[in-house]
Amino acid sequence: MKAYRIEQDGKVGRGGIVEMERDALDPGELTIRTRFSGVNYKDALAGLGGAHIVRRYPCNGGIECVGDIADSGDDRFAPGDAVIVHGRGIGVSHDGGLAEYMRVPADWVLALPEGLTAREAATLGVAGYSAALAVDRLQALGLRPGGLPVAVSGATGGVGAYSVAMLAGLGFDVVAISSKPDAGEYLSGLAAKEIVSPADLGDKPVATARWCGGIDAAGGPVLARMLAACDRDGVVASIGNAAGIELATTVLPFILRGVTLTGINADSDMDTRRRVWNRLATDLKPKGLADWAGIIALDEVPDLMRRMLDGKTTGRTIVAFGGAGTE
Ligand SMILES: NC(=O)c1ccc[n+]([C@@H]2O[C@H](COP(=O)([O-])OP(=O)(O)OC[C@H]3O[C@@H](n4cnc5c(N)ncnc54)[C@H](OP(=O)(O)O)[C@@H]3O)[C@@H](O)[C@H]2O)c1
Repeated sequence: MKAYRIEQDGKVGRGGIVEMERDALDPGELTIRTRFSGVNYKDALAGLGGAHIVRRYPCNGGIECVGDIADSGDDRFAPGDAVIVHGRGIGVSHDGGLAEYMRVPADWVLALPEGLTAREAATLGVAGYSAALAVDRLQALGLRPGGLPVAVSGATGGVGAYSVAMLAGLGFDVVAISSKPDAGEYLSGLAAKEIVSPADLGDKPVATARWCGGIDAAGGPVLARMLAACDRDGVVASIGNAAGIELATTVLPFILRGVTLTGINADSDMDTRRRVWNRLATDLKPKGLADWAGIIALDEVPDLMRRMLDGKTTGRTIVAFGGAGTE
């Protein structure tokens, strides 16, 4: 079988396409034949030595997989069942989804929800799931459409683009914060009402309120600026660190405006996954989902990862395994 396998290179990992024996895969009750696997920013960091992500070498990359059960040693799954796996250490400490097969414990595996094809689920992937989790959290913490808009940073990335589309679909006016000067058409197409550059957000500890809250996929100074311009009782969900891990802010948004900063970690428990994936198949499902992702072959993964780390990619890209019939 073919895999994008990450070997140790000093203190970090270095990935490449290899042929390997299926028997060498990490153990688990279920063998999954991969149909699609998304490529995420974290995968690029892991595969190109951008950070110490992989915990055990060698390890097949890929933090997500949509596929069919090939062999089952668990009563809950039968051969042919369509399933989704993400997180739980796959691609980091357990052989991941950028491979023709993977083997995983049955407790990590979710049946594909009704209302999503395998390609649609992979198109959403961890990015769509994380965006949906953040949207779900903003709603649970009281954000409703109708007042000030909601902001999304890293708006042209996987998480950002889904966040824009899902929030717009729920009736929020969305301000897309993007560092790409030519992203206007793409973001307007996702139904963003306004597009701003992080450079235009100012650097005051509290600024005129521009949004009722938001989803931050960028981190660093962008998150600080989102907090500073958040309205009274607003909620900002921190989900990513593409622009940095430092958070230089003050207590003022919290004590003067009662702003809530909430953290999102997509490696949720299985009940949360089931509930949020069901929302992805229904009220949070973006329109025209099948066309959202570019499709590449496994061999093209290293080049895509390079461009991703250089901030030159837009939206989602998924790897299709098995050619025709993968729909
Ligand atoms: N917490 C979780 O569980 C979880 C789950 C999924 C993803 N994440 C994180 O969320 C972030 C976004 O993930 P993704 O898959 O959407 O990544 P992505 O597709 O690569 O998008 C990242 C976006 O961040 C923006 N960005 C701002 N400054 C950047 C810089 N210096 N270098 C590169 N990009 C920069 C860019 O959008 P603009 O040009 O439009 O500004 C870029 O498109 C990542 O940090 C990822 O690790 C976290």
